[in-house]
Amino acid sequence: MKLYLDTSDIQAVKRISAIFPVSGVTTNPLIVCAGETSLFDLLPALRDAMGGQGTLFAQVISNTVEGMIEDALKLRERVENLVVKVPVTPKGLQAIKELTKQGVPTLATAVYGAAQGFLGVLAGAQYVSPYVSRIDAQGGDGPATVSELQCLLSTHAPEKELVAASFKSPRQALECMLIGCKGITLPVNVFDMFISDPAVFAAVDQFESAWQKKFNKTCL
Ligand code: E4P
Repeated sequence: MKLYLDTSDIQAVKRISAIFPVSGVTTNPLIVCAGETSLFDLLPALRDAMGGQGTLFAQVISNTVEGMIEDALKLRERVENLVVKVPVTPKGLQAIKELTKQGVPTLATAVYGAAQGFLGVLAGAQYVSPYVSRIDAQGGDGPATVSELQCLLSTHAPEKELVAASFKSPRQALECMLIGCKGITLPVNVFDMFISDPAVFAAVDQFESAWQKKFNKTCL
């Protein structure tokens, strides 16, 4: 499965890419607005922070079909190979269809239902992102939606990729991984929570101090 970072934090992408093979970085307009760097400076910086590896995703802003296509082309001009995120609305579906014809890879985003997301895929999107915690927050079942969508992809479009998004806790992400979700994108704080349990550091300290005591060194 693939693990992406959902962030505009360039330093965090550098730090995490150095310790873990991230599959790429996803952004959205809120994530970009939360940072200080303008989108067109941010995108190449994020690409470089990944050491030229991985896939970068950025979202269109316009709410017209022509505007979305124009935004998509501008984004791709800035970073070659960038995947363009397009919300699955009626206009977004049309933009996905047109962009696919032009050979521009897209991710179907703002997905709150499995069938809605699947339409984005059938319109041509290579990736699709169900919003796990947002679905939960409106009384739905985020992981169940991910499971349904993953099942639709595995059955009808195995070459397409699910990238579950909108995570607030490691548990939500773990649940999605357990039900067979093939891709997730995590905010930096959630990624860090997976590897910051104090018990782990205490265990490592214990090993080291026992060795030091017995052999008077901290290596083999
Ligand atoms: C993916 O990139 C989504 O846009 C993102 O995960 C949404 O996250 P949020 O629900 O925290 O805004």
